[in-house]
Amino acid sequence: MANTLGIVKPDGVRRKLVGKIISRIEKADLVLRGMKVLKLSKDQAQKFYSVHEGKPFYNSLVEFMTSGPIVVMVIGGHDSIRRWRDLMGATDPAKAKYNTIRREYGTSVEKNVVHGSDSEATAKAEVSFFFSDDEILPKGI
Ligand code: RTP
Ligand code: MG
Repeated sequence: MANTLGIVKPDGVRRKLVGKIISRIEKADLVLRGMKVLKLSKDQAQKFYSVHEGKPFYNSLVEFMTSGPIVVMVIGGHDSIRRWRDLMGATDPAKAKYNTIRREYGTSVEKNVVHGSDSEATAKAEVSFFFSDDEILPKGI
């Protein structure tokens, strides 16, 4: 089963939601296989979100994602990509289902607290954006 990349965005760290978010990951029986706290440079944020380059929200997104520390996590477990996206909820917190992280804690379509990879290909690329292989716990530990 593939790992996925989770991020607690700057709004989530600023508002001290990291513990609550990790608690949800644990309760869902997803598995933390790697974790770091860091602050993205503008160059890193532009690269990480390059798929959105040219969209109206791109510059604002880069500014937001560099506005403070983030927590990046390698999340594993059964069907982790889909299940972490389900836990997060829809991009716009107002449209997200009840009991999802974004519905509960998001404050706008941009400041939506968490990120999750959206496919196996992006999960692979996004995990290796932040983690080398020896920083990720192998399965079965
Ligand atoms: P993410 O990549 O962060 O997990 O979120 P997502 O797949 O649900 O949404 P995506 O379309 O990939 O957008 C990436 C992030 O850009 C910000 N955004 N702002 N102002 C806007 O209309 C707008 N749309 C998207 C959000 O922070 C979104 O999570
Ligand atoms: Mg996305």
